[in-house]
Amino acid sequence: MKVPFLDLKSQFREVEQEVLPMMKEAMENALFIGGPQVTGFEEEFGAFCSSKYCVGVNSGTDALRFALLAAGVGSGDEVITVPNTFIATTEAISQVGARPVFVDIDGDTYNMDVSRIGEAITPRTRAIVPVHIYGQPADMDPILEIAQQSNLVVIEDACQAHGALYKGRRAGSMGLAGCFSFYPGKNLGAYGEAGAVVTQSEEMADKMRMIRDHGQAKKYYHDLEGYNGRLDAIQAGVLRIKLKRLEAWSQARRQNAGRYNELLSRIEGVTVPVEPGGYRHVYHLYVILVEDRDALQDYLGEKGIATGLHYPVPLHLQKAYAGQGYEAGAFPVTERVASRVLSLPMFPELVKEQVEYVADCIGQFMEKR
Ligand SMILES: Cc1ncc(COP(=O)(O)O)c(C=O)c1O
Repeated sequence: MKVPFLDLKSQFREVEQEVLPMMKEAMENALFIGGPQVTGFEEEFGAFCSSKYCVGVNSGTDALRFALLAAGVGSGDEVITVPNTFIATTEAISQVGARPVFVDIDGDTYNMDVSRIGEAITPRTRAIVPVHIYGQPADMDPILEIAQQSNLVVIEDACQAHGALYKGRRAGSMGLAGCFSFYPGKNLGAYGEAGAVVTQSEEMADKMRMIRDHGQAKKYYHDLEGYNGRLDAIQAGVLRIKLKRLEAWSQARRQNAGRYNELLSRIEGVTVPVEPGGYRHVYHLYVILVEDRDALQDYLGEKGIATGLHYPVPLHLQKAYAGQGYEAGAFPVTERVASRVLSLPMFPELVKEQVEYVADCIGQFMEKR
């Protein structure tokens, strides 16, 4: 049996009756940048995130960059985040002129270890960027409390967590801003690059609207230098069509995760994801931990099962950050996790037989060891 890592082709079959006429209409009306699809999507996604404002941008990386800039984070500032994330999180921090400062992750949820934040705060710290990794929110209450006590802003990296919940609150809605990616493989994915920032602050929203559009609120009147970082109309149209289905897709992901949990937790040596009480994980990625990860990945590959590694090298050990002075051993939990993580096939259209086949193959491999 073949089990792909994700299956965007079958998802397309579900939406094509709506997507193709929408694209045709955009071209017939020559409406490509801005316009009613973009404002419509911003309203709908803002409401979905329980946030007053939503600003569409052209990637999750831009969402992070623009949120940091609008919050006034810049040169000489330090921003606390985690080494277990995609490099876009720290690229955004560095590219506004600030320095990423890492804290280790929690060994159960793989999210920021909130007990480590205090020791990372210095007089230069301006912000905390928690990452809701794999689709599960970070422990936001202590993060927000520490931020308030130390006068720091919180920018949520919710790029993997569309629709996730923390104690009844939507991922992205709790900090000063929440940043989303709609890269095609995300739980809510465009047919190209796209992203958005949600916020409860009108001032932040106004600033980010200017930053995404060359620093102008009125055409050719530039209050500041900005970027070309707008969301385009066709992507917004695709996202509106898919947003209507997102809740059903999240439920399907959760059902598949439940099946995996049930089957894999019986196998000795496999650690399944933990969802603490009061959290709603949306399983952008279904990540297990195993000792012999590389051999298991090869074995599953031979059985026709595609898997991924998120992430094999923690950011503090990447060449790009060699100049920062971090050494192996600096973040032991992250390093331990990085050498053991394996992301299994996870998408809404995954069927029961495929989940069972993946679990069976993992069982066979673990028995043989
Ligand atoms: C945690 C995280 N942050 C940021 C990004 C950047 O998003 P994008 O690829 O849309 O720029 C991604 C996705 O790629 C991500 O997974």
